[in-house]
Amino acid sequence: MLVAGNWKMNTDVPEGRALADAIAEGLSSTAADRGDVDFLVCPPYVHLPAVREALADVPVAVGAQDMHAQDEGAYTGDVSAPMLSSIGCDAVILGHSERRTYYDETDAEVNAKAQQARAHDLVPIVCVGETLEQRKAGEADTVVRSQVDGALSDVSIDGADELIVAYEPIWAIGTGESAAAEQAQAMHAVIRDDLRERYGGDVADEVPLLYGGSMKPHNAYGLLSQPDIDGGLIGSASLEAESFLGIAEKAA
Ligand code: G3H
Repeated sequence: MLVAGNWKMNTDVPEGRALADAIAEGLSSTAADRGDVDFLVCPPYVHLPAVREALADVPVAVGAQDMHAQDEGAYTGDVSAPMLSSIGCDAVILGHSERRTYYDETDAEVNAKAQQARAHDLVPIVCVGETLEQRKAGEADTVVRSQVDGALSDVSIDGADELIVAYEPIWAIGTGESAAAEQAQAMHAVIRDDLRERYGGDVADEVPLLYGGSMKPHNAYGLLSQPDIDGGLIGSASLEAESFLGIAEKAA
């Protein structure tokens, strides 16, 4: 079980540091209750060194929210995989629907970034998910399958710990209306099947499939008890240690 927080563009650096300190403190005081839950937080780029330092003594991995597909060059404002690796980053979110919507990011770009992440020992967290219109039109499975295929073409992994896929129905993100647990499970099963075809059952069955979209402490148990939901990619509820760790308690 993996509980991951995507802080998006929230908190300034001192606030982010305080949030990471609160997570570290919460985990240190109740470590025995966490069972097999792994943690990951993905703050804004400028927070990464401070957050890494704050979480150094607790088992929490740190990830970025995006990266460029090239090693270096004239790409003003961008951040590369070697830069992230050099500060001890473990993972990187790729293809979040907000990147796809606001920056027109395509499956081909997500794919290039995923290959680049693997080349630099970063675990890609590939995000997929349909719009409400696509769901209403009965296209959700096809859309999500094609996003998975587009993102993972030629991305080879040696083990299940080298990839994470997050299903985030766009209509559930930031709306307070999570997908129903059975609805999310059905899509996770589709994604799992796709990964089995690509990587074989032994690996695919162990790749963490996260659900994202208005996951909160009150609805986490139903979602996380589904067989193919291996954790959450949590937005707003990850901005307070209490709710972030509250979700983890439901996962344990
Ligand atoms: O990456 C996280 C998701 O977009 C979910 O955000 O929990 O605020 O709905 P949310």
